[in-house]
Amino acid sequence: MIFIAWYLLPFLIEVTNSQIESFRPKERIYHTSTFINNKLYILGGNSISTNATINEIVGKEFFYLEFSKTFNTIIINSLWQDLTKINTVPSHWAAASAKGGINNDTLFLYGGFSNETSLIHTYDSQNDLWSIPNVKGDYVIKKRSLTGIIDYNGNMYLFGGASSEFGILNDMIILDTINLIWKSGSLINAPTPRFYYGANLLPNQNIIYFGGHNGKEIIELNEIHLYDIVNNDWNIKKTSGSSPSKRYLFSTVLDTINFEWYIPNVSGDIPANRYDHKSNVIGNFMVISFGFGYEQGKESDLLLLDISNNEEYKWSIIFEPSPSIVTPTSSLPTSTQSNDFSSTNHNSRIVLLVAIL
Ligand SMILES: *[C@@H]1O[C@H](CO)[C@@H](O)[C@H](O)[C@H]1NC(C)=O
Ligand SMILES: *[C@@H]1O[C@H](CO)[C@@H](O)[C@H](O)[C@H]1NC(C)=O
Ligand SMILES: *[C@@H]1O[C@H](CO)[C@@H](O)[C@H](O)[C@H]1NC(C)=O
Ligand SMILES: *[C@@H]1O[C@H](CO)[C@@H](O)[C@H](O)[C@H]1NC(C)=O
Repeated sequence: MIFIAWYLLPFLIEVTNSQIESFRPKERIYHTSTFINNKLYILGGNSISTNATINEIVGKEFFYLEFSKTFNTIIINSLWQDLTKINTVPSHWAAASAKGGINNDTLFLYGGFSNETSLIHTYDSQNDLWSIPNVKGDYVIKKRSLTGIIDYNGNMYLFGGASSEFGILNDMIILDTINLIWKSGSLINAPTPRFYYGANLLPNQNIIYFGGHNGKEIIELNEIHLYDIVNNDWNIKKTSGSSPSKRYLFSTVLDTINFEWYIPNVSGDIPANRYDHKSNVIGNFMVISFGFGYEQGKESDLLLLDISNNEEYKWSIIFEPSPSIVTPTSSLPTSTQSNDFSSTNHNSRIVLLVAIL
């Protein structure tokens, strides 16, 4: 017996070690998260610590998690996969990202805090290749602390944010990611200058903007701004319902039609409040990545909120990304079984800007 144990023990330790040594991303804030085909790519950001060496490492890390989908279920197919060694983007944080390009499978990264001058970097997800594209058009400044919103025609909208030269801004610059041309949007009735605001594309071809920070104070959420991408103009709407307290550094998904705030029913184990996390909609889930406010090891870097049922959202908390199946609580009638995430159809009755702080 002792003889067997002697042989088994080193073997077990080795297996355990190799699991621990698989890529473990550092904690981070101000990163970008971009969902392309079935992969969620996380790039850059800043560390919560003030250690410059660690900040440099965090700002350079590039990694992804692979998902697949059947019915209302998403399946995490992999552990975090590290692509840092192919990343040519200098260490940075507070940049904006979106999926775009001719084949709709390129990661576009704009701006951010770094000591380089390139405005745009692109990652070709098919060929695992980063490059610096040549974008035509007028002089565009480098901004940070803003959100990139892509429309159905491959235009990336880059409103507001902050720049070292010009401070806090309210301009709308637009990158045509297919033809690689800079355009500029309207300034008439534009929201006041702000950064770290909330932004989402609505099904009615408007981008909704709200909240944020103007450099002096946090902006209230009872007023929202709509940028009409067809007519290139701004509109203001007052919201009804009990508006969440003013905030910035939050994340939002989904859409709204009647501009009413309400508090949804949420079940499951409520995670710690986070800020400067990022969120993406994957299948029927709002997938939240990283941020400040939780302890790595106690809580996962990734949280999943099942948003398939408007009357009750449900947290599914995972502790380590590992190949696993995450099933929503309710069964929505889904017409087709599909692996294609783009066919996700949220029956968003109206509502809701899920804000977590
Ligand atoms: C910062 O982190 C690096 C790498 O972990 C470490 O070698 C260094 O001692 C740290 N510096 C400070 C000031 O804590
Ligand atoms: C800035 O540039 C210096 C040298 O040119 C480099 O050592 C440093 O890592 C860079 N920092 C960032 C945040 O890119
Ligand atoms: C790119 O894919 C998204 C779905 O992920 C779709 O909504 C969008 O219309 C596509 N863009 C183009 C230009 O085809
Ligand atoms: C919360 O759940 C109750 C009972 O299940 C339901 O009647 C109510 O409409 C739900 N509230 C919201 C905001 O969906």
